[in-house]
Amino acid sequence: MKKKTKVAKTKIKTKTAKATAKATIKPTHVPASLLDQLVQEATAVRERAYAPYSNYRVGAAIATRQGSIFVGCNVENSTFGATICAERGAIMQMVAFGETEPIACAVVTKDGGSPCGICRQVLAEFAPDMPIVMVGLASAEGESGHVVQLKDLLPLAFRLEN
Ligand code: THU
Repeated sequence: MKKKTKVAKTKIKTKTAKATAKATIKPTHVPASLLDQLVQEATAVRERAYAPYSNYRVGAAIATRQGSIFVGCNVENSTFGATICAERGAIMQMVAFGETEPIACAVVTKDGGSPCGICRQVLAEFAPDMPIVMVGLASAEGESGHVVQLKDLLPLAFRLEN
């Protein structure tokens, strides 16, 4: 029997959104509809988080200039230090699928937590500045979210200049 290959990325579904992403979207002008879609994708992948030690589930979704969306969830390990965060999982997927131009990222948790320092640096490797949407699903007011720029989360990101 032929084995089905699981594709790890979700293409943006509507033709218009895809065309817009290809033609015009810069990290500074990401439409709210695309940010909403990233939040939906991050919320969905968060369900698959493997977090038996912290019980803190994280979902991340990254949109690229080419019009793709890559997702990741946290994968914990009993050695703790080998745990991989959701944002880095999504970045690994992006690179493995041949893309290197993220334009926005959504991170969904129960409380709207922001990306850790390592993830900020890993995101900054590919886009020193882009909108990061942080959404909390279970805050006091119900679902809450806000958008920050990566350069504000990680000013003076390290860059190796040759
Ligand atoms: N975590 C993420 O997935 N992303 C972050 O940016 C911060 C932390 C995960 C790692 C661990 O599985 C859990 O959240 C608690 O630290």
